[in-house]
Amino acid sequence: MNNRVIIFDTTLRDGEQSPGASMNLEEKLEIAKTLEALGVDVIEAGFPIASVDDFNAVQAIAKQSTRARICGLARSLKGDIDKAAAAVKPAGDRGRVHVFLATSPIHRTFKLDKAKDEIIKQAAEAVAYAKTLCADIEFSCEDASRTEPEFLAEVVQAAISAGAGTVNIPDTVGYAYPSDYADLITFLRAKVPNIDQAVISVHCHNDLGLAVANSLAAVRAGARQVECTINGIGERAGNCSLEEVVMAMRVRKDQFAGITTGIESTRLFSASRLVQSVTGLPLQRNKAVVGDNAFAHESGIHQHGVLKNPECYEIMTPQSVGVPDTNFVLGKHSGRAALAKRFEQLGLGVADADIDRLFVAFKALADRKKEIYDGDLIALVEEIVRGRTAVAWTLDYLHTSAGTGAVATATVRLKRGDETVTDAATGDGPVDAVVQAINRICGVQGTVEDFRLRSVSKGGDAQGEVSIRARVLGRQLGGKGLSTDIVHASAIAYLDAVNRAG
Ligand code: KIV
Ligand code: ZN
Repeated sequence: MNNRVIIFDTTLRDGEQSPGASMNLEEKLEIAKTLEALGVDVIEAGFPIASVDDFNAVQAIAKQSTRARICGLARSLKGDIDKAAAAVKPAGDRGRVHVFLATSPIHRTFKLDKAKDEIIKQAAEAVAYAKTLCADIEFSCEDASRTEPEFLAEVVQAAISAGAGTVNIPDTVGYAYPSDYADLITFLRAKVPNIDQAVISVHCHNDLGLAVANSLAAVRAGARQVECTINGIGERAGNCSLEEVVMAMRVRKDQFAGITTGIESTRLFSASRLVQSVTGLPLQRNKAVVGDNAFAHESGIHQHGVLKNPECYEIMTPQSVGVPDTNFVLGKHSGRAALAKRFEQLGLGVADADIDRLFVAFKALADRKKEIYDGDLIALVEEIVRGRTAVAWTLDYLHTSAGTGAVATATVRLKRGDETVTDAATGDGPVDAVVQAINRICGVQGTVEDFRLRSVSKGGDAQGEVSIRARVLGRQLGGKGLSTDIVHASAIAYLDAVNRAG
């Protein structure tokens, strides 16, 4: 058996079906380019019959593509198949039409009102028709995991006889259980006489959080195409996550001996970030492989272990998935070793003799603050080792004016000790104007690199917490601000970062 697992990415089709994940043409083209660079074998670019925009996007992706197969989805209807075949045409012999029809009793009865023999006939005719327009045809038995296995085998056999080169066995509603799903694949391999003429594909949804586990179980049972999405986005609870399924097969070589994919894993992190920013779907911090915390260690015991040997607590290197480095989060659970390491990384020249005093002050600060930023550590060294206490700027007055078509302006008054300074600036929106005004008063060069707003209470007068990452005087620093007014919260957060720059 061929041990190369085909990675079929459906971020732009099933992923776009995530509530709130619509993407425009430019964004889809950018994601498609990234997917090709990542090494996916098939890009399902959309559902061409769904809208003119969908058709145009699939066609444009097919035109732009240079290596991956480009696939368009179609119901088992001539009109759908015509559109899908026309949309993927610019990809030449890399075009694929993906035809689907539901096979389970519940879909047959309530959605299609069709008997079993009618389903087989429609599936076979649709595949045969698609084959006259495109050489590469995939057929999906929608809701396969809830279909009677004997009947499923008949549909699969008919689809292959009609010309399908890939037969997909979707767990459409995320109901499957890994061992049962693997048994279903094994059953089809044993029962369908012409199964060797097609690649078995799996497409798992995550309603019970089992999409990756089910896909992996199916690969072990002989499936050789996995359908998945970046960050696991997709209908309802999402689809099998590409980064997780690929890394599981790579890290657990003992379970997947000889299995390979074409994925360049060092591009996983950047692909994940791109999809996150384009769709606006936030990624949970503890998301496996690509989440903010995937390579972050806070507890002292863990940090100490990782410093001695990363394999104590890391089963893959951050670099192997494109994450720049292990992140030692400094907080109340951190130990002396991690603190000393961070001082060293910051080039602060702290002597061993000073670490004990700094560690005591650090623990006291960590009890008061959730996250300790580099600026906090610098201030600690200044204060405890060098005996200097930086006097911080505080916001005394703020006025902004902005509107559609109007230049945003901000007037800011800051205080530091006895000093009071007022200045004004314009900007690209009110927050940017505030940042420019603060930069002028404090005499720093600074920009905001990341901006997050979170509501910390309910109602129209909710308090908003702004968290920013700013680059001030060449250093990346964090800042937080809380207010019922977003611009006011932003000003406090940015000033917090500027004060940390010292
Ligand atoms: O979940 C599903 O069954 C699908 C099919 C169209 C493959 O997305
Ligand atoms: Zn799906």
